[in-house]
Amino acid sequence: MRDYILRSARYIAADCLRRFLLPGDTAVDATMGNGHDTLFLCELVGEKGRVYAFDIQRQAIENTKALLAENGLLENATLYQCGHERMAEMIRTPVQAVMFNLGWLPGGDKRVTTKWETTETAVRQALDLLAPEGICVICVYPGHEAGNLERIRLKEILSGLRPQEYNVLHHCFLNAGESAPECFIIQKQICKGKILDKYAE
Ligand SMILES: C[S@@+](CC[C@H](N)C(=O)[O-])C[C@H]1O[C@@H](n2cnc3c(N)ncnc32)[C@H](O)[C@@H]1O
Repeated sequence: MRDYILRSARYIAADCLRRFLLPGDTAVDATMGNGHDTLFLCELVGEKGRVYAFDIQRQAIENTKALLAENGLLENATLYQCGHERMAEMIRTPVQAVMFNLGWLPGGDKRVTTKWETTETAVRQALDLLAPEGICVICVYPGHEAGNLERIRLKEILSGLRPQEYNVLHHCFLNAGESAPECFIIQKQICKGKILDKYAE
């Protein structure tokens, strides 16, 4: 039976990480929120892996801690109550994946949303931290002002990345209106300086 349908930005981002990450890998959840993505990453990297997660809100750390504990995965994660723009200070080894789900804490204060200035710093650090073949996924929600600015600026800076260093994919539904969520998927090239045949398959 045929069961293929076009999926949302969030689904595509998660599906990419589901296919890419292996047990024992290291991953970063740059926007912890209620911990669903942190839990998802912990499940993918398993008990031999490690997940570093960031959020500026106390509530996010507490919610994530509770969710991981409930699922017996608290030991596999390191939770930082600090901005993701400090990622490079906290993580010193290459990572296989970084996940950003921008915006505000679901059910929380909508004024505490990610902002372009810090998002840009964090995304640049994330791209540096990626191991060869490592993947960074970024979901952006342009239905509000800060999210729209993030979408516009991300598109600009990611379009300018050297193809010798990164491949960049932009997923959006062209006919869903300006406020529909979008995602960017960036993969670090395996060997710097050589453009791989990304169109081969
Ligand atoms: C859409 S939510 C993330 C949802 C989350 N991944 C989940 O699974 O529930 C975005 C989160 O980014 C957080 N945030 C805002 N600015 C941040 C920053 N500079 N560094 C890290 N997190 C930040 C917000 O507090 C909010 O919890």
